[in-house]
Amino acid sequence: MEIRLRTDADMPALLAALKATHEVDKYPVLPNHVSEEWLLEGDDGMAWVAEHESVVVGHVAVATTEEDPDSLSVHRLFVRPSARGRGVASALLTTVETYARLLAQDLFLEVVSHNTDAMRLYESRGWRRTGGYTASWAAPDGTHAQINLYASPHNNPSHVIEVGAGRPTE
Ligand SMILES: CC(C)(COP(=O)(O)OP(=O)(O)OC[C@H]1O[C@@H](n2cnc3c(N)ncnc32)[C@H](O)[C@@H]1OP(=O)(O)O)[C@@H](O)C(=O)NCCC(=O)NCCS
Repeated sequence: MEIRLRTDADMPALLAALKATHEVDKYPVLPNHVSEEWLLEGDDGMAWVAEHESVVVGHVAVATTEEDPDSLSVHRLFVRPSARGRGVASALLTTVETYARLLAQDLFLEVVSHNTDAMRLYESRGWRRTGGYTASWAAPDGTHAQINLYASPHNNPSHVIEVGAGRPTE
């Protein structure tokens, strides 16, 4: 498996992987967010893909955190369902964590409560839940998702950002 920077040519494979992820995990929550626009939204162009046997199987991006210009947030992390449980997301997270450390920036992320595999993975890597809130936007079934905010184990422990300061996770 190889981790490399995302290119425009990756988009068809990424959209296919995102569609499958939405169907299995409700990520993204809203069906109309299975789109190139949503995938690229707000990541400042810093994004990586995981490739296995010449097939793109996973993606992660990093974004400037809106309310805190001195920190970054993990953005659009997903792995094609057929490629899971083999360390693809771990390798993508290691890439983002290393990038943030090189820039000497703290790293945060937001995750919807129903994405339990993701929360288990973050916690197994030492990420710490620092807060949560109810989303203002409604899912297709009318419910409002619970959002959890996590902080990287590499962060300055005294650096806390306000709940909900990351990019929209819908
Ligand atoms: C969360 C998600 C990205 C994880 O992807 P993944 O590639 O399966 O993750 P990994 O393989 O790195 O880790 C998953 C599990 O496999 C285990 N694992 C890691 N490397 C492994 C290996 N080489 N062999 C076997 N198992 C391994 C991990 O320990 C982890 O165990 P856990 O289930 O106890 O946490 C994926 O489930 C997903 O795309 N979910 C939907 C989207 C989502 O929720 N994104 C988060 C948005 S904030």
